[in-house]
Amino acid sequence: MKDRIEQLRSDFEAALGSATDASELEALRIAYLGKRGHIAALMQGLREVEDKKTAGQLINSLKTEVEDRIKNADEALRRAAVDREIREAKKYNPTLAFPREMGSYHPITLATREVEEIFRTMGFTIENYAEIVDDYECFEALNIPKHHPARDMQDTYYLENGQLLKTHTSAAQNAIMKKYGAPLRAIFPGRCFRNESTDACHENTFFQMEGMMIDEDISISNLIYFMKTMLSEVFKRDVKVRLRPGFFPFVEPGFELDINCAICGGEGCPSCKNSGWLELCPCGMIHPNVLEAGGIDTERYTGFAFGLGLTRLAMMKYGVKDIRDFNSGSLKALSQFKSR
Ligand code: PHE
Repeated sequence: MKDRIEQLRSDFEAALGSATDASELEALRIAYLGKRGHIAALMQGLREVEDKKTAGQLINSLKTEVEDRIKNADEALRRAAVDREIREAKKYNPTLAFPREMGSYHPITLATREVEEIFRTMGFTIENYAEIVDDYECFEALNIPKHHPARDMQDTYYLENGQLLKTHTSAAQNAIMKKYGAPLRAIFPGRCFRNESTDACHENTFFQMEGMMIDEDISISNLIYFMKTMLSEVFKRDVKVRLRPGFFPFVEPGFELDINCAICGGEGCPSCKNSGWLELCPCGMIHPNVLEAGGIDTERYTGFAFGLGLTRLAMMKYGVKDIRDFNSGSLKALSQFKSR
């Protein structure tokens, strides 16, 4: 009997060692501790044994041992399973779980950054200015008094408190002159708003990039130089430009700088109102009244200002035929641009 018990113990040891999962362990438990298992069989065998007490004790201690060992092995297996889960969870890469679609920058953002970079290298400060301004900033300080006919061209959205959505980036000129004084080189991009009937080249919401340079002896040649440098950098080619006289109450003399339409090559198309030219950059020498309103000594300083049509520039640069595409929110149109 003793030998049978020892044999069973070593068989159990071996079987336990090779059990690798819960179901194998359960099979082992049934084989040894089940009603018809090995231990029950040993109990049956007791009948033929003389020293029933000793044999009984041995069988019982084997039984307890088998029970404990199976319980421990079961716990160890469970712990190992949890550990494995944790380990594998660490390796889990959530970015692989769903397809990632990279967004892309809006073409206006790309154009803005490019022009900013060009002017930054020429020593210009970049300023950010509010979209909601007051009448003084948008008109009065720019030599456009109330009832001036120039206001008709720049109808906009008014707030109940009398403030308005700026119609041009020039609305920041006064504040920037007051902030920096002369000498001054600054550009300030911004979103502008006007009451417009929209078509392929007009939008009620568009972007401009204003620039100002104020110093001693600033003349139209400085203005032309900076415009030419900027445009040839942006288009990476020799861009044809023309200067026409233009009227803006805040510059004297004032010009319209046009560039040759890149979409039709000058033939005439809806984007350029069939003229072959695109008004890109109204500009001029800052009017003394405007300098004075900004606290600049007009005896000593002169300056130029320009209001580059950033939206127009982006149309030219990227060959966008319809200005309305920019605000369309259409991913088909806008996702074609690079993401960084
Ligand atoms: N602010 C003018 C406009 O929007 C453009 C401009 C800026 C003209 C600076 C001259 C100088 O129409």
